[in-house]
Amino acid sequence: MADKTTEVRLNFMAALENVQTMDELEKIRVEYIGKKGYVTELLKEMKNLSNEEKKTFGQAVNVLKNEVNDKIAEKREELKQKEIELENSRMPEFDISTPANLERGSYHPITLVQRQCEEIFRSMGFAVEDYSEIVTDYECFEALNIPKDHPARDMQDTYYLDNGQLLKSHTSAAQNAIYKKYKDALVNEGKPIKAIFPGRCFRNEATDACHENTFFQMEGVMVDKDISISNLIFFMKTMLSEVFQKDIKVRLRPGFFPFVEPGFELDISCLICGGEGCPSCKHSGWLELCPCGMIHPEVLKAGGIDPDEYTGFAFGLGLTRLAMMKYGVKDIRDLNSGSLKTLSQFTDDK
Ligand code: PHE
Repeated sequence: MADKTTEVRLNFMAALENVQTMDELEKIRVEYIGKKGYVTELLKEMKNLSNEEKKTFGQAVNVLKNEVNDKIAEKREELKQKEIELENSRMPEFDISTPANLERGSYHPITLVQRQCEEIFRSMGFAVEDYSEIVTDYECFEALNIPKDHPARDMQDTYYLDNGQLLKSHTSAAQNAIYKKYKDALVNEGKPIKAIFPGRCFRNEATDACHENTFFQMEGVMVDKDISISNLIFFMKTMLSEVFQKDIKVRLRPGFFPFVEPGFELDISCLICGGEGCPSCKHSGWLELCPCGMIHPEVLKAGGIDPDEYTGFAFGLGLTRLAMMKYGVKDIRDLNSGSLKTLSQFTDDK
């Protein structure tokens, strides 16, 4: 019987010698000390032995088993070490004492324009609100007087989720929530609602130099007793003159949006020619910048505000558009490009 243990031992040692990987090692472990392994099988042969033989043979098998266990553990360590060495040999060599050549990061031009607008509106008493990018159909359309199947939805085709929610196609989607949030202070304490809410918007658009499927707007609303179009013009003119650091002339043209009545397109005097007429403004002297209008009574009602008592204005400033004008960016796609060479040019101290 002693021969058998010796034979198994020799076979095991020979097999172990050839092991190169963890997988192979595991295979050998199972082959020898697994449930049906050679060593385990040896023990089963004990039943045919005399008591005396059982004792010596049992001991010998146990010694073998421990030996196999130890050798496997040893080999495992050896393989691990080899793996680490291999890994290290693949690592590029670097000198940790080399001075870093890191360039400073920069703000995205849209972030710069957004922050500047926020600051200006904050100084005029507006709250700055954040709103989610995923909204309901009600928030984006129905609460804004755009019922299902209304043709105005065509202009704002967006991306829909399986659960019926959608990526907001304009920042107006936050209007309803803003009215509901501030209406009690308006009615009970006479505090006007004054809020801006910048945000990322999405539309199902074919992209070109002037169109992107992802862009930024900044919505603003003001609601109180006796708010009129003059208030709207005043705030827009003040804000734009601050942004461009010069006196900006504005004009209103009629524009249609179901959530404002009357609705306008606000134009500013061309920044390039100062209103004389040039290729940038198609020789009209004006640039279209910001749709706006007086909030539709149905929209106020949906927000829990009585339109017979209160009026308000809303505007939807194209932040992406504004950044392009301010920094002379010709292709809107540059703004989403992630190209640091392009985007890092605009950083100022803000
Ligand atoms: N939400 C409109 C759009 O994106 C813009 C808008 C906002 C118009 C507020 C009027 C008032 O097209």
